Amino acid sequence: MTTPTAHPQNLAATLRRLLYFALAAVALVAVLASCDTPLTTFEPRSDAAQRVHTIYIFVIVAASIVGFLVLAAMAYILWKYRERPGHTAQQIHGNTTLEITWTVIPILILVAIAIPTIVWIAGTTAEPDEDALHIEAVGHQWWFEFRYPGLGPDGEDLVTANELRIPVGRQVAITLEAKDVIHSFWVPQLVGKTDMVPGRTNILEKFTATEVGTFYGQCAEFCGSAHALMRFRVHVDSHADFDRWVENMNADPVPPEEGSVEAAGARVFTNFCARCHTIYGVSTEEIGPNLTLFGDRATLGAGILDSTDENLKAWVSNIRDIKPVLETTNAMPTFYVGDPLVDQLTEAQVDQVVVYLKSLKLR
Ligand code: CUA
Repeated sequence: MTTPTAHPQNLAATLRRLLYFALAAVALVAVLASCDTPLTTFEPRSDAAQRVHTIYIFVIVAASIVGFLVLAAMAYILWKYRERPGHTAQQIHGNTTLEITWTVIPILILVAIAIPTIVWIAGTTAEPDEDALHIEAVGHQWWFEFRYPGLGPDGEDLVTANELRIPVGRQVAITLEAKDVIHSFWVPQLVGKTDMVPGRTNILEKFTATEVGTFYGQCAEFCGSAHALMRFRVHVDSHADFDRWVENMNADPVPPEEGSVEAAGARVFTNFCARCHTIYGVSTEEIGPNLTLFGDRATLGAGILDSTDENLKAWVSNIRDIKPVLETTNAMPTFYVGDPLVDQLTEAQVDQVVVYLKSLKLR
């Protein structure tokens, strides 16, 4: 009987190819590791995210050790018991000690992983702290609404959109709902991800942010054509900054000076934008995002664009240049494309409303 044997030269070539492949993989990992990754879970900035991270690292380390030991043992056995002329393989039928060992060890590892996991999962439904900040997050196609019960004008909800503000070091208890289809709330560095389901209130794991900063959120459930463009930010503020924001949201806006560009923009807002958008003290419709203190938002279009004058102008003119949004009753109309048959606003009016919206700032 003849058996094929690896030619030493072929083996060397194969090993060299494997080495090149491994080096390329290491280089790729190094390049990717230096990318900006705002949706990372590796830099937890809340107690909840830290719990997930701890379990994750534990599992990764345990899996790496197991993987290394298994591969090393396999390599050793393949080499030691390789076929050689003059050697006959030993015929083995069962080994009770070995079989018990390789059953018991994985059981112990799985139990060690299961205990912190189950403890953590049980903790996700714990009652909120007494002084927790309560927030309702509502998913819409395609933006996020955030409501702070009791903090708004006349003790009503305080409503904002796409940029959630929370104080550092205070527990946050968020309930999740959806207006139209299923969305999902996910802020990798803080908390998540939990589905937002129409007709049902889901409870997000309570969390306490540990650091002031801005963190990226993303809808994590496919919800239609603009799903990938449904993002948000969480601003973790100092207590003083958060209180100041709540106070300013509730303060009546200063009316723009008569004859100014802001005043012209305010008229455009009242005649067009106010059909859907609330600005406290100016308008009350809640079809679209609440725009109170819009000038202090860092982003627009549900977190996809920096809030620059240029981007805002493009967004107000025709959101369909930016997001795949159909003309539906609940979607923002196209206001200006330079076609008199379509345009509801002139370019000058768009410019005016941009100036007005950007002027709505904290005092
Ligand atoms: Cu909302 Cu995906």
